[in-house]
Amino acid sequence: MPVKLTNKDRKFRLLFQENPQPMWVFDPGTRRFLEVNAAASRLYGYTADEFRGLTLSDLQSREDAGRFLAQRNDPAGAVPTAWRHRTKSGQQIEVEIAVYGIDYGGREAQLAVLMDITGRRHLEDQLRQAQKMESVGLLAGGVAHDFNNLLTIITGYGQLILNSLGPKDPNRHSAEQILKAGERAAALTRQLLAFSRRQALQPRVLDLNMLVASLSTMLRRLIGEDIDLRLVLPSDLGRVSADPGQIEQVVMNLAVNARDAMPKGGVLILETANVQLDEQYAAAHVAVKPGPYVRLAVSDTGTGMDEATRARLFEPFFTTKGAGHGTGLGLSTVFGIVKQGGGNVEVYSEPGRGTSVKVYLPRIDQPAAIEAGDLKSQAVRGSETILVAEDDEMVRSLVRETLERDGYRVLVASDPIQARRIADSHQGPIHLLITDVIMPNVSGRELAEHLLARRPGLKVLYMSGYTDNAVLASGILQTEVAFLQKPFTPAALNEKVREVLEPNGLSRHAM
Ligand SMILES: Nc1ncnc2c1ncn2[C@@H]1O[C@H](COP(=O)(O)OP(=O)(O)OP(=O)(O)O)[C@@H](O)[C@H]1O
Ligand SMILES: [Mg+2]
Repeated sequence: MPVKLTNKDRKFRLLFQENPQPMWVFDPGTRRFLEVNAAASRLYGYTADEFRGLTLSDLQSREDAGRFLAQRNDPAGAVPTAWRHRTKSGQQIEVEIAVYGIDYGGREAQLAVLMDITGRRHLEDQLRQAQKMESVGLLAGGVAHDFNNLLTIITGYGQLILNSLGPKDPNRHSAEQILKAGERAAALTRQLLAFSRRQALQPRVLDLNMLVASLSTMLRRLIGEDIDLRLVLPSDLGRVSADPGQIEQVVMNLAVNARDAMPKGGVLILETANVQLDEQYAAAHVAVKPGPYVRLAVSDTGTGMDEATRARLFEPFFTTKGAGHGTGLGLSTVFGIVKQGGGNVEVYSEPGRGTSVKVYLPRIDQPAAIEAGDLKSQAVRGSETILVAEDDEMVRSLVRETLERDGYRVLVASDPIQARRIADSHQGPIHLLITDVIMPNVSGRELAEHLLARRPGLKVLYMSGYTDNAVLASGILQTEVAFLQKPFTPAALNEKVREVLEPNGLSRHAM
């Protein structure tokens, strides 16, 4: 029915139509829209005509179904309430709505004034999340630091006891178990330190494409045959300044998570790109500075995550994998490493739709000479023969894969006895022995001494979960030995091996 407009009505229309704040007038009985302004059309994507065919419930998202807008006749102004709505394109928005009773051309109607608070809510959520991570990080870092000192004492004295026991002593096994547990605890504390961003970093100019490509053989083995690994590495990728060992750890943690999410197989895509994060992006993301970045996206076609998991996945020890399967430190380590490097991590995931983790690292501009001089994967290949003695199967295969990737000839043994046998029967030279410090029956040092007596030129690299200081303090190793602390990354292993094989080669990365 046409409404006869009075002068007052015209004024109202002007205030209404041109108002930058979205507004509607609706019928309180039928909840149909009688009139909407231009700002409301822009916000929801419906034309004024389309709006007139809708009721309030058509906008409400499922979570808010059954709630009703209540008019508050408070003379000081209506108290706005928050609502979740859907736009025409299906996007969820959050609005605050204040409702006032008005006279609309002689009939009773309600005027709703809206405020789009989607962006604000988003920022509030992120801020809460950032504060939570900050305080958990402080706590974890503090605990890890004190814990490390205690572990040094536990493993140091444990080693002293072990050293004092004869080879047949029934207490040997107990002492070895103490040291093994100490080793695992030390690995955990190191991950916590990574999360709390308290690590010593050795940043270099890095080409992420090169790093991903050189990891790909190992990644393929890691994820198994049922998962198809695809690399998308554009040639014009910018450089980043980062610790290669740490970035390898980021890639591996993300790949392992993707693998775990695809027990029946699927596709894993590693993709790099140059991106420019603008002011608008920075404004919508807490603690992100606008500027040039390199983005590494790790995407899988796996199970995906629900909202409850997404909200907590960076927390240390948050895991949905059963006991003994996950420690829940993978993503917190990724988070710590990337944040410490001035970057940012984003996770997109829906249940059943797979997951995409995007890591942003600040892009740096470096002259070509420096880039070429610093392509580490070219610099650290070798062809020597290396004997690896390690009783932990995972560590053993990691060491083997890495060394083979880098061109070495690798012999592996799962215990010292086997290592001796291999060394005795091997015809050619063995340039390096890489051995775990603690192994069943014979210690790494005893193994090394045995082999050195037969092959005097042999170099030795020890690995252990203890820190260098704990191992030195325990007296098991002399100060002059080469030592690699577990858990290590392929890059760290690689570098250490070159260092031991070529003590005078100095840094090949130096320009
Ligand atoms: N790609 C993914 N797809 C589905 N869920 C994932 C993915 N990545 C992580 N998650 C979820 O996030 C949780 C935390 O991951 P995180 O890597 O921190 O720990 P974890 O994998 O459980 O254990 P850990 O990495 O220490 O072995 C996982 O338990 C899993 O529920
Ligand atoms: Mg993980």
